Amino acid sequence: MKSAMSSQNISKTRRLASSWNILRRYQTGVFGNVEKTIEFHNELCDLVKAKTNVSVAKARILDLGCGQRADQTLLFKADGADVTGVDMEVPTYRMSLPVLAQVLKTNGMERALKSLLRHYLFDRKYFALLTSRYDTGVGLDGLDTRLMNAADLAFPESYFDVIYSAWVFEHIDDVLGAIKEVNRVLKPGGIAWIGVHLWPSLSGGHNLSWEAPDTNPSARVPPWDHLLESRFPVNTYLNKMRLDEYREMFNRHINVESEELTREGEKLLGPDIEAALLDGGYTKNDLVTRKVVFVCRKKTY
Ligand SMILES: C[S@@+](CC[C@H](N)C(=O)[O-])C[C@H]1O[C@@H](n2cnc3c(N)ncnc32)[C@H](O)[C@@H]1O
Repeated sequence: MKSAMSSQNISKTRRLASSWNILRRYQTGVFGNVEKTIEFHNELCDLVKAKTNVSVAKARILDLGCGQRADQTLLFKADGADVTGVDMEVPTYRMSLPVLAQVLKTNGMERALKSLLRHYLFDRKYFALLTSRYDTGVGLDGLDTRLMNAADLAFPESYFDVIYSAWVFEHIDDVLGAIKEVNRVLKPGGIAWIGVHLWPSLSGGHNLSWEAPDTNPSARVPPWDHLLESRFPVNTYLNKMRLDEYREMFNRHINVESEELTREGEKLLGPDIEAALLDGGYTKNDLVTRKVVFVCRKKTY
């Protein structure tokens, strides 16, 4: 199975710089912040309580695109839920020679090296902290994580009470297939929370220099470089879809109950950039909308 990452033609120097930037963010706590992970998890639990008639402890949950750390899968398991995390990349919350060999075979050498480094430098400490801070206790044993493509889910129809997918859909090449699969495996009365980082936004090119445009604008990478000259591409597959394209697909194949938008970068959108990008077919809204969260219900036909 091919990884959705590492699929662009990026120079070795840029790949190295990008890996270094990622490691720096782990080191400074921007990535892998235990408090934020738990806070976000508690918000998800509140949503499950408010929107479904099962308790988190009794719910069957899918963490779609759980990531190598699978941290929300872990927390749901600690709550007592019957949770499965799926991803195209091999989970590495437990590292061993067989796991490393599997990462190498499935996701390639670069991913294997990065996973190994991240695991020994940061992940062990991260999981130790997560375990100590989370009330119910977190255990890595028996976690159900599987290699699977979101557009081809090996689960029966109407199987999950809750489907949760954070910052994954922008990396999926077959978005339509994934939405159809989410709708198929979601139970009537269940809820799907799908958060998407939008490509045309200032941070949408996934260049870490533009991670926080309103508080820490980049002095090095020009704003909206990914839509203009693309001088600083990153080593991540992105499908480049816009909000309206997602809306159209979601509304056609699943019931969207609510949509929440996060904005960014309005002050940085000067007249020249705006004119160039509007000419390129983007709307002003496209350019300043960072994220969308769709909360969805099953559509029955
Ligand atoms: C930015 S990470 C988010 C991980 C996790 N949800 C989190 O919030 O930390 C995106 C994840 O989506 C996964 N992914 C991309 N395309 C996928 C697909 N078609 N099916 C399943 N997972 C996919 C990637 O392997 C990666 O782990």
